[in-house]
Amino acid sequence: MENRKLVIGNMKMNMMAEDISNYLKDLQGIKLSERVVICPSSIYIPYFLKQSYSVGAQNIFFRDSGPYTGEVSASQLASMGVHYALVGHSERRGYFRESDQDINKKIVSALKYGLEVVLCVGETLEEKNLLKTARVLKRQLLNDLRNLEGNDWDHVIIAYEPVWSIGTNVLPAKKDIEDTIGYIKGIVSEYFNYDDIPVLYGGSVSERNIEDLNQIPNVSGFLVGGASTNPKSFLKIIEVAVK
Ligand code: 13P
Repeated sequence: MENRKLVIGNMKMNMMAEDISNYLKDLQGIKLSERVVICPSSIYIPYFLKQSYSVGAQNIFFRDSGPYTGEVSASQLASMGVHYALVGHSERRGYFRESDQDINKKIVSALKYGLEVVLCVGETLEEKNLLKTARVLKRQLLNDLRNLEGNDWDHVIIAYEPVWSIGTNVLPAKKDIEDTIGYIKGIVSEYFNYDDIPVLYGGSVSERNIEDLNQIPNVSGFLVGGASTNPKSFLKIIEVAVK
């Protein structure tokens, strides 16, 4: 993985069809687009392909094909030209009750079809208040990343997203982010023998705090939610982070 930071926009379930052409036009100004990934709602993915940046899925199902109404597989996404998949986002873990076992199967499937995996991990406010952050992250990492082999590890990125920071404008202190990223890297190195896994930060990243967050020495980039739906904010974040 190169040293340049990666910026991933997770648009979640936002934007109407009529908004897309303006959004695409605004994003044509992206520089260094090889370090930018956009994850739109899956129905809009075709509009985002063939741009200068990469496209990611917000979710995948772990089976290849079959009677799974409403689901989209890693193989289908790869066949469309999608290069990344978010897996284990806290909104999937929370609202859709995704277990670590489901998430692990999704990761194995995504890697099988050549997608770059962005595994999201993070503690809830309750877990943080109970001082369980380290335990929760360790459980997520050890269970979600089972059964990887060979060069699979070169295609995995972790996104540390404290759940209490998502959409709240409440951020951890920079030093806490740095320490937690260090902890995540340490777990992956100790238990999976893979050194220096890239770890992104996500949670209320905006054009107002990006200069500050960008100074965290061990952060490999940012997973941006709300601000990625605003081209001006998203372009500013990219401009600062991808140098
Ligand atoms: P916000 O940037 O809106 O806080 O969302 C973060 C996130 O969940 C990205 O996956």
